[in-house]
Amino acid sequence: MPDSKQSATLITPDGRYIVVRGRLWRRANPALKSADHERLVRDLMGARREIGTTRRSGDCAREITSRKRVHATKVALGERGPVWWSDGAPDYNRKLAKNSPYARWYARACASMPDEHANITASHEDIVMDIFEALRQDHDKQRTLADKLVATHGASDEREALFTDLRRELKDHAAAKEPHFYAPLMQHDLTQDRARHSVAEHHDIDELIEKLEDTEQTSPQWLAVAKQLQEQVTHHLDEEEQEVFQMASKALTDKQKSALAKDYRRQMDGHD
Ligand SMILES: [Fe+2]
Repeated sequence: MPDSKQSATLITPDGRYIVVRGRLWRRANPALKSADHERLVRDLMGARREIGTTRRSGDCAREITSRKRVHATKVALGERGPVWWSDGAPDYNRKLAKNSPYARWYARACASMPDEHANITASHEDIVMDIFEALRQDHDKQRTLADKLVATHGASDEREALFTDLRRELKDHAAAKEPHFYAPLMQHDLTQDRARHSVAEHHDIDELIEKLEDTEQTSPQWLAVAKQLQEQVTHHLDEEEQEVFQMASKALTDKQKSALAKDYRRQMDGHD
């Protein structure tokens, strides 16, 4: 299990949830043996990859089987299904922290930190931007742009401007992230498969962008494809923040995390 002192993720004091963009996500059962945990995470990645492959091939039956496999693996990990604690506390998985019994703790954690995602166990001297914070800042921009894009109606200057901004954000982000995040992760056994999976998803996103470019903005089809793009982007970013970052946090040293953030930022700023 990730050590909360090394992780850049905000973890509830009882260790039951991580907080991602204000939402609680149940962590894996800490009683799982490390080898079992890693095996299940590998299974999960395999099942996820299979969903992508089957979706692209249009094999609905196999896609459903793969989705069931993802769910079953999450249950085995303890992230879904019955809770792994035994004190009778309810499950707040996916609930907003501010609407849960963790609200006071969360408000204090946010108030004392410059970034709600920063590690509350770190001292202020320790807080430097690491690669996870740098990526999250850009992920938030992409989510906002994608949400605004699917709220547009018909061909308009606003639709064109939002699409141009989102396309640039996604392409620059992928171009900077691949050398400054995924390349080092591909050097580690723990994160190699995960990094390949994420890079493959960048290609899926590129294909949807190309499809949008080839579709008339006035046609209803354009909005349908834009919604697919928004779903794909949201899925990709959530998966990175909830799964890849935790594994990467174990694979990379603190020095690497800061150095990668600088290199990533420098490349992104060069595109501004
Ligand atoms: Fe990505």
